[in-house]
Amino acid sequence: MKVIKTCAEMSALCQAAERPLGLVPTMGALHEGHLSLTRQARADNAALAASIFVNPTQFGPHEDFGSYPRRLERDLELLAAQGTDVVFAPPPEEIYPAGFDTWIEPGAVAEGMEGAARPGHFRGVATVVAKLFGITRPNRAYFGQKDGQQVAVIRKITTDLNLAVNIITMPTIREPDGLAQSSRNANLTPEQRTAAPVVYRALRAAESLWHTGERDAGRLQAAARAVLQSEPLVESVDYVSVVDADTMAAVDAVSNQPAMVAIAARVGSVRLIDNVVLV
Ligand code: PAJ
Repeated sequence: MKVIKTCAEMSALCQAAERPLGLVPTMGALHEGHLSLTRQARADNAALAASIFVNPTQFGPHEDFGSYPRRLERDLELLAAQGTDVVFAPPPEEIYPAGFDTWIEPGAVAEGMEGAARPGHFRGVATVVAKLFGITRPNRAYFGQKDGQQVAVIRKITTDLNLAVNIITMPTIREPDGLAQSSRNANLTPEQRTAAPVVYRALRAAESLWHTGERDAGRLQAAARAVLQSEPLVESVDYVSVVDADTMAAVDAVSNQPAMVAIAARVGSVRLIDNVVLV
């Protein structure tokens, strides 16, 4: 497995790689969620590239960029064990050299939920993902449904900018108690970790109600909120939203189009996000 630090070397290597080439973009601190992506990408493609880059431009000024977990050596071992051919792990100045001044600003798909709670977040995500696509020119790129709005944003910029990458979405990997795996879970205290599955329980409550035939978004949201409120360690709820699964537009009622119920809530200082798709 090659570990590459510069854009020029990465471009050259990927250009010479066997095809199809699969790309799995990550910010490292890898867990089973990430590895489910590399496993699928390994099975689908002749060559497998992964990136590890804690992208500064997708973090707000008061967010956890500084404390985001960094475990490069361990990550490289995991990726090697998965049969990864090349890992791109550039320093920030390689991706954002002095004078860097071009941004991708996604539209309405990025306005609600994470976009509203984290101004500029999706501009940073869209820009870095487009750059990673430009550097590696993969045939397929793999993303997790765990970050449901992120996948919708990436699909939209890929279509709108004709990026010619096949976007593959993989299901959310969960702990046995339902908590979605996340690098940030490491920052939960044992007590908070016990409380954290409440987010998925809240989503399941909305989903169960939907299964009984309820289609009103307000009532589905209320069912989820009631579950969140039953847990004292939930410090705040950023949103409980019911949106169209493609456009991320809020819906008043769930129709025949797939809808996504999404939650962002804080347990202690850790912000947890999760979603379920009603299909
Ligand atoms: P990161 O949070 O490291 O996640 C990398 C990829 O793993 C994303 O596509 C994410 O949705 C997926 N993932 C994370 N947890 C998952 C889980 N429990 N189940 C399934 N997939 C999961 O998302 C990012 O990094 C960044 O925003 C990035 C796309 C790399 C751009 O900087």
